[in-house]
Amino acid sequence: MNFKAGFEKFRGFGYYFLLAVLLFAVMFLYFYLYGDGGRSANSLSYGDQVELAEVEIRESELEGLIYARRSIRDYQAEEISFNNISKLLWSTVGTTVDGISGPTRAAPSAGATDAVEIFLAVKDVEDIDAGIYHYQPAENTLLEVSSEAKSAELEAAALNQSAVGDGGAVIIITAVFERTIRRYGERGERYVHMEAGHAAQNLLLMAENLGLGSVVIGAFDENEVRSILGSENHEPLLLLPIGVLEN
Ligand SMILES: Cc1cc2nc3c(=O)[nH]c(=O)nc-3n(C[C@H](O)[C@H](O)[C@H](O)COP(=O)(O)O)c2cc1C
Repeated sequence: MNFKAGFEKFRGFGYYFLLAVLLFAVMFLYFYLYGDGGRSANSLSYGDQVELAEVEIRESELEGLIYARRSIRDYQAEEISFNNISKLLWSTVGTTVDGISGPTRAAPSAGATDAVEIFLAVKDVEDIDAGIYHYQPAENTLLEVSSEAKSAELEAAALNQSAVGDGGAVIIITAVFERTIRRYGERGERYVHMEAGHAAQNLLLMAENLGLGSVVIGAFDENEVRSILGSENHEPLLLLPIGVLEN
């Protein structure tokens, strides 16, 4: 084989190699941007599934709700209705209108990385057994992670703040930080906290809308709450007890 033929053969091989590298790079970029972003990573094992009520979208006076919202820490010992708990969960990160790449969520999320995940601790809710549940926004369901009512443990973890144990339910805002950090690096950490705040404010306004009381609880021992939830992947960020207003 002379030098020219050898060079031609090498050049032919080189083109195929370049094409393969390009194809690999495009596929990598696609899965990085549009893959499930680690959503399927989960160390929880589930028990029963609860199907939540469909939320009817109605217009309400937002100005009045923003004006009237207050942190409320004292509640009556009364159950929360099934419809109301469905609406409260939906207001956090429930499925809403179609976004750029499919249905989007009630609270904004940096790059739609959807780091925030919601747990529900049930003490006294209509038609839902006491226990801890993991909210599944796409399916509008709850998956049971514990059949034990852990409101006393949650209250103790929240430095004995009685609102946490007194509410009929506690909504726990958690996050899987890696989803957003993978996309945005260190800055992603800030974005996750912002996303949690958006979900919490939605929830507070929905509670106001339903005539229920709630408060953001940020003072708690995260190791204790993490072990109550039984998940290593979910970082607890905020607790929001929900209770029926006192007369
Ligand atoms: C990040 C954050 C953490 C909070 N943590 C607690 C808490 O642990 N316990 C509590 O009773 N209130 C807590 N609050 C509620 C504030 O005390 C309350 O929003 C503030 O006093 C203003 O009152 P308002 O919500 O009625 O307007 C927290 C609020 C935020 C935003």
